[in-house]
Amino acid sequence: MSDQCWDPVRYARNARFVADLGSAVLELLAPQPGERILDLGCGDGALTEKLAAAGCQVVGVDSSPEQIAAAQKRGVDARVKDCQALDFDQEFDAVFSNAALHWMKRADDVINGVRRALRPEGRFVAEMGGSGCVGRVKRAIDIALRRRGIDPKPLNPWYFPTAEDYGSRLRTHGFQVDSISLFDRPTDLPGPLTDWLETFAEPFTSALPPADRDEFCREVQEAVRPELCDASGHWRADYVRLRFAAHLDEKSENRQTNSSITGVPGQKTTGRPWGSARVSSDEMPKQ
Ligand code: BEZ
Repeated sequence: MSDQCWDPVRYARNARFVADLGSAVLELLAPQPGERILDLGCGDGALTEKLAAAGCQVVGVDSSPEQIAAAQKRGVDARVKDCQALDFDQEFDAVFSNAALHWMKRADDVINGVRRALRPEGRFVAEMGGSGCVGRVKRAIDIALRRRGIDPKPLNPWYFPTAEDYGSRLRTHGFQVDSISLFDRPTDLPGPLTDWLETFAEPFTSALPPADRDEFCREVQEAVRPELCDASGHWRADYVRLRFAAHLDEKSENRQTNSSITGVPGQKTTGRPWGSARVSSDEMPKQ
């Protein structure tokens, strides 16, 4: 993970929409009462709590002690853990993740840990930022950093894969991919883009002296205003999501077959070809 800090109060103010928009991936998980589920990158536990309310035995893990403390306040079993070095052993019926995997650049380590955490035939169901996510915002960040003589490449905390990339990693680790879909999901923000930058873009802003950060955020915001802000001042970020459902196929001889790309119910798919060239090499995880 990166040096991003998660302040639960700021997160609740600026990012409640993240959990609110998690209902589709929860539906894809289809949790059953009594199932033991791991919520990977559980944040402040808003969705972990929903899984518990559905009758599941849930464990939430996250690398942020502050977010885990907030999750524990909700009464969920939440633990501070490096999600890129999981040490569970065949304990879970399913691993679930919403809006967290794009902060984990060591994707193979994550998937390997998930595989080990699952019982035979266990499922892995997740949604994350996908190739091209916040592309306009990211370009404006890069330009504003370079203007200040800072190379944005080593600061980039995000991994936004294509369906082909993540699907092939899942298969390599023994998963059968039941569905995987990359789709645009323009996302309404509760406030100005500067609030979003303050909440989600700290690995970039922390490269600047504290006194310069507000001005930097305003500059990025003004650069994308024509594309992302409407006439009434409402901001909508250019999110792209990757959503998938996979399961362990321990018995299968051939672990590379039988995947499909599907549309997302109620969502327009991008119609992009597999392996869309929108991902740039600096977004690829370094293994
Ligand atoms: C998120 O954590 O939800 C997120 C982070 C960066 C870009 C888009 C979404």
